[in-house]
Amino acid sequence: MSVQGRESIITTQRLIEKKQRGEKIVMLTVYDYTMGCILDSVGIDIALVGDSCANVMSGHETTLPITLDQMIYHAQSVVRAVKQAMVVADLPFGSYQGNSKEALCSAIRMMKESGVDAIKLEGGKEILESVNRILSAGIPVMGHLGLTPQSIHKFGTYAVRAREEAEAQKLIEDAHLLEEAGCFGIVLEKIPAALGKQIAGELKIPIIGIGAGNGVDGQVLVMHDMLGLSKTFSPRFLRRYANMYETAKTAFEQYAQDVRSGNFPNEQEQY
Ligand code: KIV
Repeated sequence: MSVQGRESIITTQRLIEKKQRGEKIVMLTVYDYTMGCILDSVGIDIALVGDSCANVMSGHETTLPITLDQMIYHAQSVVRAVKQAMVVADLPFGSYQGNSKEALCSAIRMMKESGVDAIKLEGGKEILESVNRILSAGIPVMGHLGLTPQSIHKFGTYAVRAREEAEAQKLIEDAHLLEEAGCFGIVLEKIPAALGKQIAGELKIPIIGIGAGNGVDGQVLVMHDMLGLSKTFSPRFLRRYANMYETAKTAFEQYAQDVRSGNFPNEQEQY
């Protein structure tokens, strides 16, 4: 039972059981109440309040500017909507790196004020102290390795990660460290499919991929991307399930035309 009185059907234990049964796990980002209701109605397993919110909701170039207060606000909206899925929220850049005491305070604030079920952090060995401290407070933690957008200025590019042997080795070590620490799952972003499959095979906890191939235990996509709300972002891993950019544009155009022509509202649409 969470602090908001939610009782998610999907728990960390259920996710591990799904992996053991070979059942794929479905994860999708969401940032608001309305979309949260739709997402939950189709039985998505994990609703991720991702810091990609900074990009798709606020128009920032990177995820770095979003604040803990802003993430908590979005997480609260999602928690009000989602009754079945596990709700996981990203801790934003600057709220956990380099200071495990601050990391714990950020995680506690997120849990207390939003009512999410778990938090997600980007990084491996370098954030292990923060991971351990948060876990010691009984807060479930999901890891995130590979392309970690909060470190984009270090990488300098959004290209595929861990193609080179040394980086692939570090990624494998980091994944094991996070599992040993007690993380309940790990997101792997934009890495070779063979590496994703290897890590999913070596670890007991669920591995969720975004651009990590089909050999992992589940998939996650950014909602706005898979709905086709953005026209410009087209990485190879993205499958668009709708063309909502065109749907919304056509509706806005028709509305403007109807208002301007006096066609809206008609007799039935007024008192
Ligand atoms: O913020 C986000 O949307 C994410 C996904 C890309 C996994 O972390």
